[in-house]
Amino acid sequence: MSIISTDISKAVTILNNEELVAIPTETVYGLAGNIFSEKAVKAIFKTKERPFFNPLIVHIPNLEYLTNVVSHVPEKARLLAEAFWPGSLTLVLPKKNTIPDIITAGKSTVAVRIPNHPLSLELLKQLDFPLAAPSANPFNRISPTTAQHVASYFKDKIDMVLDGGSCKNGIESTIIGFENDDPIIYRLGAIAVEQIEAVIGKIKVKNKKATSPDAPGMLDKHYAPRTLTVLSNNILEDLKTYSDKRIGVLSFSSSFEGDNIQHQIILSEEQNLNEAASKLYDALHELDSLKLDIIIAEVFPDFGLGKSINDRLQRAAFSS
Ligand code: TXA
Ligand code: MG
Repeated sequence: MSIISTDISKAVTILNNEELVAIPTETVYGLAGNIFSEKAVKAIFKTKERPFFNPLIVHIPNLEYLTNVVSHVPEKARLLAEAFWPGSLTLVLPKKNTIPDIITAGKSTVAVRIPNHPLSLELLKQLDFPLAAPSANPFNRISPTTAQHVASYFKDKIDMVLDGGSCKNGIESTIIGFENDDPIIYRLGAIAVEQIEAVIGKIKVKNKKATSPDAPGMLDKHYAPRTLTVLSNNILEDLKTYSDKRIGVLSFSSSFEGDNIQHQIILSEEQNLNEAASKLYDALHELDSLKLDIIIAEVFPDFGLGKSINDRLQRAAFSS
C-alpha cells in the first residue's frame, strides 16, 4: 500500500504516537515529528542520515504561539513575522529553555516558521505540539516538492506522506537571524531579498564561505543531484566543451539545439522567476533520474528569486 495519503486524522494519530509524517508546505515537503519527543526527533535525524550538528526548524500554528518557543523577539523580527507569516520565512531567535537541545544542536537560538499550506496549518492546529521538520530528503540530496519525490526517497522507512500536491514556491524558506538585534540572511530562499528589504530596509546576506556556518544549509555542497552538474553562463559554448557527453540542459527561458542534448527543461518561457523557482527541484529530480553524463544549468539573473535559484544551482554544481 502506498504511504501517500491525504488523511489528516491519520497523520495526527501517527504524530501523536511519536512517529514521523512527511508534510507538504508551500516551500518543500518536510519530514515532521513532535519537537518534544526525543524518539521522533532522533528518527528524523536517522531517516535523513542528517548529522546532529545541523539544527531543525520548528513549525508553529500561529503567531501567538511564537512566545512559547522563543524568549526574545527583536522589533524587526516582529515586523517580518507580521509581513510574511504564514509563509516562507524562517526566523532564528533566542530559544525558550523548553526547546530541547537536540532540536537546536545545542545552540541558544531556535529556527521557527509558520508554513503556508492549508493541510499543514490544519494539522498543526489539531496537534498540541509544534513540528520539527527539515526538508524531507536524505542529507545532501535534492529537496522534495511532491509527495512522490518523498515516497521514492524513503519508501517504507516512514509511515506516511501527507499529500498536499506540488509545493507552490518550490524552494526552501529564507532564513533570517539576528546579531545584536540586527537582521542577517543566513539562507536565501523563497522570499526575495528585495521583499525583505521593503519591510525592514537594507539587510546583509551571510557570507557563504564563513568558516562556522550559522545555517549549515549554507554548507557549500547541498541540494545536489547525483549527476555531475555544471553552472553555465554560455550554454552554447559548454555544449561544445562537453560534446562527447550525454547532456541534460536546464535553462531559464531559452531553448537550445544540439545532437548530444538528451533532455532539456525550460523553467519559465515567460521569464517569470517565481515560476522558475517553483519548478527548479522537480526539474533537477527529473534530469537526475535520466542517467545522463552531465547537467548543464544556466546561470539566472541576479535579482529577486534569481539570486535564490543561483544559490541552489551553485550548491548543486559544487564539487570538492
Ligand atoms: O522551507 C523550509 O525551510 C523547509 C520546510 C520543510 O519548512 N525546511 C528546511 O529545513 O529547509 P532544513 O532542515 O532542510 O533546513 C533548515 C536550515 C538548516 O540549514 C539549519 O542549519 C538551519 O536551518 N537552522 C536551523 N536551526 C538553526 C539555528 N538555530 N541557527 C541557525 N540555523 C539554523
Ligand atoms: Mg534541507
